[in-house]
Amino acid sequence: MDNRPIGVFDSGLGGLTVLREIHKRLANEDTVYFGDTARVPYGPRSKETIIKYTFQAINFLIQQDVKAIVIACNTATARALEEAKAEYNVPIIGVIEAGARSAVEYTNNKVVGVIGTLGTINSKAYVNTIRSMDESIRVIDKACPLFVPLVEEGWANEEISSTAAHMYLDELVEKGVDSIVLGCTHYPILKRTIGMAVGQEIKLINPAKETALELKEILNQANLLNDKADEGVCKYYVSDINEQFSKVASEFMKKEITDLEKVEIHRF
Ligand code: DGL
Repeated sequence: MDNRPIGVFDSGLGGLTVLREIHKRLANEDTVYFGDTARVPYGPRSKETIIKYTFQAINFLIQQDVKAIVIACNTATARALEEAKAEYNVPIIGVIEAGARSAVEYTNNKVVGVIGTLGTINSKAYVNTIRSMDESIRVIDKACPLFVPLVEEGWANEEISSTAAHMYLDELVEKGVDSIVLGCTHYPILKRTIGMAVGQEIKLINPAKETALELKEILNQANLLNDKADEGVCKYYVSDINEQFSKVASEFMKKEITDLEKVEIHRF
């Protein structure tokens, strides 16, 4: 048993979609969330920069005495998970393998869509992982760089997001995908808008659920689960305090999130 918290991080708000699933499946675990709001978006940045940012986030979370770390960001998973696992002793999990597995399990017609940031899509991490699980699957991937700023702006359900969704996704529908992996942790916040753009017949796969289950399994196997009876608490840290984070985070987590603490992340 280990009652220390679990560290979760993302470039901004997106990792909250993973945090929410962790809370559902590991309700008594304490968590520490870090959103690198001063440096969001990670999507267009180089691999070298994303590795640097990821290591700084991990150093900060280790200082908070976490027992495991979830890289709740597809871009950081695609660009830096392997390097992070090689560098640190603490258990570290990303989100891509879980998302790929869900798609492989779900698809009937073996035509799967994957959407994400430029960094994730250019890395081909999803295509390679899905095809390593089932070579017969055709993966149609598409970067949707406007989605992250729309979410961070709090415009997920506005007309502008619906227009962007059609512009990015009509092509995937025409190509006959039966499922689309939401390969960026910000995108589940746009789920309604994306769902309306692509239609109900296409399944939207959120890797967050599978990631939370994988985390539970890893903690269980390593005997690191918390044995407290009461509900876990989350401490929120960001690298830049802005009103938008509290507003969108509170709406999404369905509870007031106002006690944000600022981290000088460049020091880590
Ligand atoms: N939410 C992140 C992801 O899953 C990154 C978004 C960004 O900072 O560009 O890829």
